Amino acid sequence: MNQPALNTFQSNRPALNFSFGNNGTGNKLTDKTFEDWRKLIYDQCGIYFQDNKKYLLESRLQKRIAFLKIDTFEKYLEYVKFNPRKSDELKYLYEVITINETFFFRNQPQLDALVTMIIPEILNSPLKINKNKIRIWSAASSSGEEAYSIAMAFNEMIKPKYPGLSLEVVGTDINYQVIETARSGVFKEYAVRNTPSYYMKKYFKQDGSNYHLDPQIRNMATFKMLNLYDQMAMKSMTGFDVIFCANVLIYFDLKSKVQVVSQLYNSLNKNGYLFIGYSETLHGISKAFKLASFPKTIGYKKE
Ligand SMILES: C[S@@+](CC[C@H](N)C(=O)[O-])C[C@H]1O[C@@H](n2cnc3c(N)ncnc32)[C@H](O)[C@@H]1O
Repeated sequence: MNQPALNTFQSNRPALNFSFGNNGTGNKLTDKTFEDWRKLIYDQCGIYFQDNKKYLLESRLQKRIAFLKIDTFEKYLEYVKFNPRKSDELKYLYEVITINETFFFRNQPQLDALVTMIIPEILNSPLKINKNKIRIWSAASSSGEEAYSIAMAFNEMIKPKYPGLSLEVVGTDINYQVIETARSGVFKEYAVRNTPSYYMKKYFKQDGSNYHLDPQIRNMATFKMLNLYDQMAMKSMTGFDVIFCANVLIYFDLKSKVQVVSQLYNSLNKNGYLFIGYSETLHGISKAFKLASFPKTIGYKKE
């Protein structure tokens, strides 16, 4: 990880007088400081730490505090708030506070619905303008396993039937580290543990403990940093046929869920579909979509 030199910040803002040098591990997050941290994180990215997640937040922040050798959680908060390069520090903050659990073929019924029903339906729709390309967004992609699973399923199930059709998958996440892993196309055993053996043999090359994804599949997806709670950035994401936004809404509160889902709606083409996680629902969040049933899963259609 290339992290900015601390002394640059110190020399730019001597008035704040941070006591660098402590490893920051002896501190506890007080209720008041937890509130302040919760507000800052929520305002920046929509993630809401419930009361019972106080110790989780404490241990996550501890990592960054120890790295920066700042004395207390209060001082780290000041450091983030008044940092002349606030966006840089936020980037590192997101790396410690986000949970990036994911794996290949995490939701097979959604993939089946995509390749057997949704893509053929979209291609038949008179509203689909460019019939040579399907655009899919893996929002909150983590290290790319979902995006690449989509690309593999497309290659196997759609490409033979529609040879002229291309797929563009865009993966986005707020955590820069996971984006870098996604771009590398190199994964550990944990990530491939659920991958059907046919796909393992065809699309991965094992090299020690690393699994290298076939470059053909890697080239079907691109990845970039994007904060789903950043309304301006979200406006740039348009023209998608299908959006997968799974296992991230659980970290938001109702207000941030409503905002994000309404922007995802705007990002979809008419007749496009949104998929969310198994344990998530749009009930009470959006009435804009029509519920669509598929074998063993549901999707949300923009009509
Ligand atoms: C549990 S992972 C889910 C990954 C994948 N979608 C899946 O279902 O396997 C949640 C991801 O959401 C990302 N995330 C959290 N808040 C975000 C935000 N405001 N904007 C973009 N991504 C966010 C995290 O960095 C993390 O990688």
